[in-house]
Amino acid sequence: MTNATFNIKQLAVQYDTKGPEEILRFALNSFERIAVSFSGAEDVVLVDMATKIKKSVHVLSLDTGRLHPETYRFLEQVREHYGLALEVLSPDPAAVEALVRKKGLFSFYKDGHKECCGIRKVEPLRRRLNTLDAWITGQRKDQSPGTRAAIPVVEEDRAFSSAEHRLVKFNPLANWTSDQVWQYIRANDVPFNELHAKGYISIGCEPCTRPVLPGEHERAGRWWWEEETLKECGLHSGNLTKAANE
Ligand code: ADX
Ligand code: SF4
Repeated sequence: MTNATFNIKQLAVQYDTKGPEEILRFALNSFERIAVSFSGAEDVVLVDMATKIKKSVHVLSLDTGRLHPETYRFLEQVREHYGLALEVLSPDPAAVEALVRKKGLFSFYKDGHKECCGIRKVEPLRRRLNTLDAWITGQRKDQSPGTRAAIPVVEEDRAFSSAEHRLVKFNPLANWTSDQVWQYIRANDVPFNELHAKGYISIGCEPCTRPVLPGEHERAGRWWWEEETLKECGLHSGNLTKAANE
């Protein structure tokens, strides 16, 4: 199937009640140029499921240069455990250097995370997505009531598609809860990031992630100095447009 002949709206309804494995199998069988986007957190369940469906599945991670040492170790653990050719994407060094020269290493605490995320995450991802027809993410509705409550299991990626290139985005875990993800991890002996045992639930870059207190929402540990509705780094900025229109 090519993404031009793909009826996304119909498939989103059809697959909304299906489990993540079935959605993944459909995604991997439908597209050749497709990759799982793995952050180094509990979205490792996608890697586990995908490698069981297709040994040669393509997995990519964005190395912002600011991840926790635990996350770097975990990426390598996953590479070895699953025998993956994990693709680690780096930002443009000149763009990072220019930002740091102008604003220092922690500009995001003063004027928001958008600029730094734009350079360290969005631009390298965009470069790679331009060569793909579809990608697979670990986004879930329960991760953020403010921005993710309406994400479908498959959608057109409005942030990264262009007039010439329509990109399909799969979110196979959209309807799963955090509990279901952790049940799967335990039941299948899936390796996990050691930060989870240190109080972290959601994991991003080291300066922009902190553990949460009992009863706090997981998203409270991400960019905690910013407003709830702005907490998308640009990888999933389509969610902000959707949330604003509701
Ligand atoms: S973020 O936009 O706030 O950083 P989040 O951490 O919730 O995203 O992760 C949601 C999904 O986005 C992940 O399951 C993964 O598919 C993708 N993602 C986030 N960060 C990365 C990363 N560093 N590398 C690759 N994929 C990522
Ligand atoms: Fe920069 Fe923080 Fe975004 Fe990482 S999460 S790219 S450190 S602003």
